[in-house]
Amino acid sequence: MNQRVVVTGGAGFLGAALVQRLLAEGHSVVALDNFWRGSMENLRSVMDHPHLTVVEGDVTVDDDLDRCAQALGGVDLVHHLAAINGTKWFDEAAIDVIDVNINGTLVALRKAQAWGARFVLASSPEAFGENESMPLRNDDESRFPSASTHQRFSYGASKYLDEIAVQHAVRNGLDARIVRPFNAYGPTMVGDEYGQVVGMFFNAVKEQRAMRLHGDGLQTRSMTYIDDTVEGFYLAGALERGVDGTELAGRSFNIGSHEEVSIRYLAESINRTVGTMAVDMVIGGGYPGDSQRRLPDTSAANISLGWEPLVSLADGLAMVWAQLQTGP
Ligand SMILES: NC(=O)c1ccc[n+]([C@@H]2O[C@H](COP(=O)([O-])OP(=O)(O)OC[C@H]3O[C@@H](n4cnc5c(N)ncnc54)[C@H](O)[C@@H]3O)[C@@H](O)[C@H]2O)c1
Repeated sequence: MNQRVVVTGGAGFLGAALVQRLLAEGHSVVALDNFWRGSMENLRSVMDHPHLTVVEGDVTVDDDLDRCAQALGGVDLVHHLAAINGTKWFDEAAIDVIDVNINGTLVALRKAQAWGARFVLASSPEAFGENESMPLRNDDESRFPSASTHQRFSYGASKYLDEIAVQHAVRNGLDARIVRPFNAYGPTMVGDEYGQVVGMFFNAVKEQRAMRLHGDGLQTRSMTYIDDTVEGFYLAGALERGVDGTELAGRSFNIGSHEEVSIRYLAESINRTVGTMAVDMVIGGGYPGDSQRRLPDTSAANISLGWEPLVSLADGLAMVWAQLQTGP
């Protein structure tokens, strides 16, 4: 069935890819973005699509959401991805990070309720805080350090509150689902100093300078190819009920690769991928509160969404490199 879908943060890294996926499935889409980090370039391939409207606006502003609904003539589904994402911002712009996460989610959530639309929240493994028990299960507890130590959890703790707001709305009748993407990567990553480690490393290769590994480089992540991540969002929004017949409202889904790799291994893998363009690695820098391990338990996504990661790290890095060499 053709759906009318609002994607907040729709010009961002994941949002733009999700917009493309939704259009390809025949849905009508509004991409709402204030271009804090997103860009029209991310939407270039669908810019002239007859079922896409781009609304430049702020997700914390009621009227901007209303403009989205007007453009679609009603809304069936909201994919809420707008956020100030990028690790460096979490300390540097903590108030802005909290503002968009909390106020943006509350506005988008209330609009979904008023429109009678389904709602999908982009949460984050950061919503578990410093919980280091791996693999992280969907319903594991969240643990946060004292707010006086650093501001990193401006992001994770406000995502945690977003999840509480969503669960509260579900108790009041909203059909809402939560997706937690684990370290997505792909060819369109920004990879500047504000975050996205795979992009940073490929940028170092392109500029033939050393890759900088934060901490000791032994911290692990589950790098997930963008197509797999977007499929998780897509299914969380599209399915009426779980493929196992269960209710999806109020469920949360960890979406991430099962290949847990150290940042050092990631850098070495990128060097293997780029062959003669390989660069040196240097250790240093990083952010306070950086988690040591990150590995998802994705069994709920597998059982209820029918989702599983399909792209290996080696294949994903090869696809990124191929696309970076040929251009978009
Ligand atoms: N990429 C990942 O691996 C990852 C991991 C965990 C969680 N997430 C979550 O997924 C979502 C998308 O992440 P992404 O990687 O595409 O990040 P991104 O920064 O590329 O996308 C976020 C988009 O939101 C926009 N935005 C920021 N503030 C806004 C505002 N006030 N109003 C409207 N738009 C605004 C930005 O301009 C950007 O286009 C975010 O909610 C993020 O927290 C992503």
